[in-house]
Amino acid sequence: MGHPALRQLTQSIEPSEIDTPALQHLIDDMFDTMHEYAGVGLAAPQVHQEFRLFVAGVDASDSNMRPIVMVNPQIELIGQAMEEDWEGCLSVPDIRGKVSRSVEIRVRSLDRHGKPQQMTATGFPARVIQHEIDHLNGILFLDRMKSFESLTFLDEYDRYWDKGEQSGD
Ligand code: NI
Repeated sequence: MGHPALRQLTQSIEPSEIDTPALQHLIDDMFDTMHEYAGVGLAAPQVHQEFRLFVAGVDASDSNMRPIVMVNPQIELIGQAMEEDWEGCLSVPDIRGKVSRSVEIRVRSLDRHGKPQQMTATGFPARVIQHEIDHLNGILFLDRMKSFESLTFLDEYDRYWDKGEQSGD
């Protein structure tokens, strides 16, 4: 938090640039970084790359969210339903806070080989995707908090608020 890259509007990636060694290497590095810091999502601006690209997913045993790569994502909120829940961010270490997000979304994007893909997501995966797409627009989850009353250090979150659920990236 504080690095200017986190506050920039990112650039779309040319489809012809996606299946190149440089981009493929970046995507692999982003998965490595995400796993190393036990995150469930990582957007390119978090590694100071101003591209419209993010990776997300938890371990393969969790069918909630398989690993995904989204390039140039376009999000559409489905319905009016919102839900408030805890989020964290690798760029805002050791902090948690409650953020209201759309329960259901549809996303169109390109995959890691530049092929069009579409998915709908509800609940936790929908929250993760909204959080990551915010990163591509220079928005941090703190900006989305309606109040800072729930702003919590990770130690206190673990002690008082963790219900054994995942808590964003
Ligand atoms: Ni984040």
